[in-house]
Amino acid sequence: SADVRESLYLVSEYAKKYFETQLHETEQGKAIGLTYFKERGFTTDTIKKFALGYHPDGYSTFSEAAKKAGYNPDFLVGTGLSIARDNGELIDRFRGRVMFPILSMSGRTLGFGGRILTNDKKAAKYLNSPESEIYYKSKVLYGIFYAKQAIAKQDLCYLVEGYTDVIQMHQAGIENVVSSSGTALTSEQIRLINRLTKNITVLFDGDAAGLRAALRGIDLILEEGMNVRVCSFPDGEDPDSFARKNSKEDIEAYFAANAKDFIRFKASLLMAEAKNDPIKKADLIRDIVQSISKIPDRIQREIYVQECAQIMEISEQVLVSTLAQMLQKDL
Ligand code: CTP
Ligand code: MN
Ligand code: MN
Ligand code: MN
Ligand code: MN
Repeated sequence: SADVRESLYLVSEYAKKYFETQLHETEQGKAIGLTYFKERGFTTDTIKKFALGYHPDGYSTFSEAAKKAGYNPDFLVGTGLSIARDNGELIDRFRGRVMFPILSMSGRTLGFGGRILTNDKKAAKYLNSPESEIYYKSKVLYGIFYAKQAIAKQDLCYLVEGYTDVIQMHQAGIENVVSSSGTALTSEQIRLINRLTKNITVLFDGDAAGLRAALRGIDLILEEGMNVRVCSFPDGEDPDSFARKNSKEDIEAYFAANAKDFIRFKASLLMAEAKNDPIKKADLIRDIVQSISKIPDRIQREIYVQECAQIMEISEQVLVSTLAQMLQKDL
């Protein structure tokens, strides 16, 4: 209900400020959290702009503070910041993590991502708020509140994988950046961007997982009638590490030189993968035609069919008839 939602917003807003205070004003927060962010190269301005915080490492330090400040335990549990044990006792979910508040388009706090400070491979690196009446992860894009004006102004949106990619790119002076935060991109997220621009450049991590994730989500963007380019990074780099090492001009030059039209990129990639295996090649041709079939504009489809025929070294007619079959199936 609207009342419950309002209460969850209030708890989230309180928590955001609480974690910021912990980061900037407590010994533990400064020694652990602030040091961590500084070591990652975030400036004080950046840390404040993104309202980054620190969650203390106690058993129920946050939950106790929130109860004392008058917040109802039901709503603390409702946001997922506290977890209720069988005996009713509350424990903290994000103990000992640095906190990234996730804001709506209009700047309300919806949820949090929390990162561990070690590189312990056994623990989940990021923990995210569970879904609630105010936080639907499929409808949120991390960074959208800070990026919306720049996206509209540049008529372009960069889509990255993670929190720190958004933040580091901002710090480098590139503000038209949002992240789907590790989850597969959804149509709702794409529509949020579509309100601001028709042009998306997907920046994926320079690793195999990054490439797979990028290829998976992108048909949905085509389906929304948007223009998609993709850009990869050198092996082992992500936008965060890359933006940290390079100036705004260098980053922009890198994008200009390396961003590729998505369909062309995918066709070339698949062609390389098919090698000389005819069966595999047939499968991959169906795969690329599937992507083309998602494009609403008929003329664009025609142009891509021509291009792909060349790239994949196959007759245009075969692609045209495969495409016609697929479009038929969609009806
Ligand atoms: N992610 C997550 N849970 C994990 C790992 C990742 O929710 N256990 C999400 C986070 O939103 C993360 C994004 O997926 O930002 C991308 O993952 P990854 O590239 O592994 O992390 P980075 O953003 O590069 O994080 P960092 O630089 O802090 O290691
Ligand atoms: Mn990654
Ligand atoms: Mn990454
Ligand atoms: Mn990273
Ligand atoms: Mn033709």
